Amino acid sequence: MNNFIYENTTKVYFGRGCVREFLACLVKEYDTVMFAYGGGSVKKNGIYDEVLNILQKEGKNVVEFSGIMQYPTYEKVLEGARLARENHVNMILGVGGGSVMDCCKAVSLAAVYEGDAWENFWERSAIIDFEPLPVGVVVTAAGTGSECNGGAVITNEEAKVRTGRDYPKCNPRFALMDPSYTYSVPERQTVAGGFDTLSHIMETYFSEPDTDNVSDDIAEALMRGVIRDLRAAIQNPEDYTARSNLMWEAAMAENRLIKLGKKCDFTCHQIEHQLGAYTDCNHGCVLAVLHPVYYRHIYREGLPKFRRFAQNVWNISRDGKNDAELAEAGIDALAGFIREIGLPATLRDLGMKGKGLLKEIADSCKLSSGSYKKMTQQEVLEILEECF
Ligand code: NZQ
Ligand code: ZN
Repeated sequence: MNNFIYENTTKVYFGRGCVREFLACLVKEYDTVMFAYGGGSVKKNGIYDEVLNILQKEGKNVVEFSGIMQYPTYEKVLEGARLARENHVNMILGVGGGSVMDCCKAVSLAAVYEGDAWENFWERSAIIDFEPLPVGVVVTAAGTGSECNGGAVITNEEAKVRTGRDYPKCNPRFALMDPSYTYSVPERQTVAGGFDTLSHIMETYFSEPDTDNVSDDIAEALMRGVIRDLRAAIQNPEDYTARSNLMWEAAMAENRLIKLGKKCDFTCHQIEHQLGAYTDCNHGCVLAVLHPVYYRHIYREGLPKFRRFAQNVWNISRDGKNDAELAEAGIDALAGFIREIGLPATLRDLGMKGKGLLKEIADSCKLSSGSYKKMTQQEVLEILEECF
């Protein structure tokens, strides 16, 4: 194992009924709670009523912050920050998926920070030397793992940039994770979220070191789990075993554990962020299009790991194959799984009409230093063109 420092300050309450059991106690010390949510799914599935009843019974002043969109914008963050300041909010409760959780973390900074939060915390990375508003989350969709880290991906529409930063001070104080809350997630979002989890694990696994290490061992077990559990959740959306595993796999992928001692790549995420800044494509769906194409570009530089991936994740036997053939068989298995679960294979499948924007998107992508292969903007463009 390479050297590392590990801390994760989020306290997790996991399992059926956890909101009913623990939320009241967790908000006890706060008078005014911002209840933040997305486009309204929580009103249809009953989660809104459940949470609001608990807050009202506890006598909280509840300030609602609704309409958080998929891929929250900086403008929405500023709206939340204004609302928090005007109402003297002293804790933020985010109820939703990654978009709501990310937006709440950004609001927690912007609400107490005097300067321009975008410029100082997203445009560049910073050390947070003040206390953001405390955030707690109730997770309603599995995938991003945002509940267990300080990460927030925010879109600056004006600058056409989407940037994610992980600030430990923004880790939620608590995460309430009731897997049955995810029963109502539509199949499309279930598979997109599940693939996002798989992508987080792969983007970490396919990077140095390649010597035996605990992080890669855990990653392999998690990847096999996500594949198994997604298949089961598609068969039966109310399969508690599958939903609970997917929820915890998502958190395990992004609670920093499997990143310990790893260089980490995240090239596909960097490309996805910029595709998302220019289009309204779904995060997990874009990642599904990008991964096989990107891996065909880099596997020769990371052959030992790609060989391990084929054997240990997809159970492909060597059967006379050389290393490159084995690696390719692993990538083919990944592409086959993407088709099997109904995710798109091309940008056209995602509704992209022409190649006109691809060069601008490629040129605006950040290049990761963790990739097995040194990428260039030109190669990113080739990848995007192949994805088209
Ligand atoms: O907005 P509502 O009405 O709530 O509906 C949402 C939304 O339409 C719906 N949904 C959520 N829970 C539901 C439900 N529908 C029915 N029943 C439920 N229980 O699902 C749709 C997608 O929700 P969203 O939160 O946008 O999806 P996801 O969890 O995939 O989050 C995506 C965002 O997270 C960021 C992405 O960039 C994107 O902005 N990410 C955050 C990361 C982090 N903080 O660590 C890492 C990720 O790589 C990712 O970049
Ligand atoms: Zn992701």
